[in-house]
Amino acid sequence: MKAIIGGTGVDSLEGLTLKKTVVGTPYGKVALFVGDDLVFLPRHGSDHSVPPHLINYRANVAALAALGVQEAVGIYAVGSISKALEPGDIGIVSDFIDVSGGAREHTFHIGGSSGVRHCAMDEVFDVALSNRMKALAPYLKDAGVYVCTNGPRLETKAEIRMFAHMGCDVVGMTLATEVGLLAEAGIRTLALAYSINWAAGVEQANVSFIGDAQIEALKEQMTQLCCKALLIS
Ligand code: HPA
Repeated sequence: MKAIIGGTGVDSLEGLTLKKTVVGTPYGKVALFVGDDLVFLPRHGSDHSVPPHLINYRANVAALAALGVQEAVGIYAVGSISKALEPGDIGIVSDFIDVSGGAREHTFHIGGSSGVRHCAMDEVFDVALSNRMKALAPYLKDAGVYVCTNGPRLETKAEIRMFAHMGCDVVGMTLATEVGLLAEAGIRTLALAYSINWAAGVEQANVSFIGDAQIEALKEQMTQLCCKALLIS
């Protein structure tokens, strides 16, 4: 089973019919859209009502694992810090830095009877999946390093200057928590980022976002691409 993790729910993909299904996990219930080989997880809930810092990431990933998902592509909206990925671009994330502050339930490895475990993060994204994606869409940018803030507020200009000094290229509020858990669950993962704004203080005096129609078109393009890359193998 393969998964796409995105912002907004869908009930059909490339002619595939997906059925809205609620999966129970030890961390809570999750609504997903399930087909024969592919499942779509809307990470903010099926009605997009959960902000990034309150998402039940453990339940989401546990639901994917319960459905037998072995490979997933996450789609992430970001702000651009460097010119690696400019507003309107889509790219593949190469690495991440987590500054979300530890306030989230971010691990399955909580010690006790299951022991103390440390999941490796030195090759966090799957190379074979990445190569499949690049072969399908050579125009994809290298989105570089994603810095994950806690949100839901946007960053100050000083914070973004600090992230730029740290070597970060794009900023968002979800990837590190989600990808860390996917790795702990043994799910091979790839992250596609699409930029919807210059981050605070970069290129523009004030943060402004690309238009809704452009955002919808980018999301549609990425979802189609994910279907193809996941269903090739
Ligand atoms: N900051 C954090 N998360 C984001 C941004 C941003 O500028 N744009 C889209 N997601």
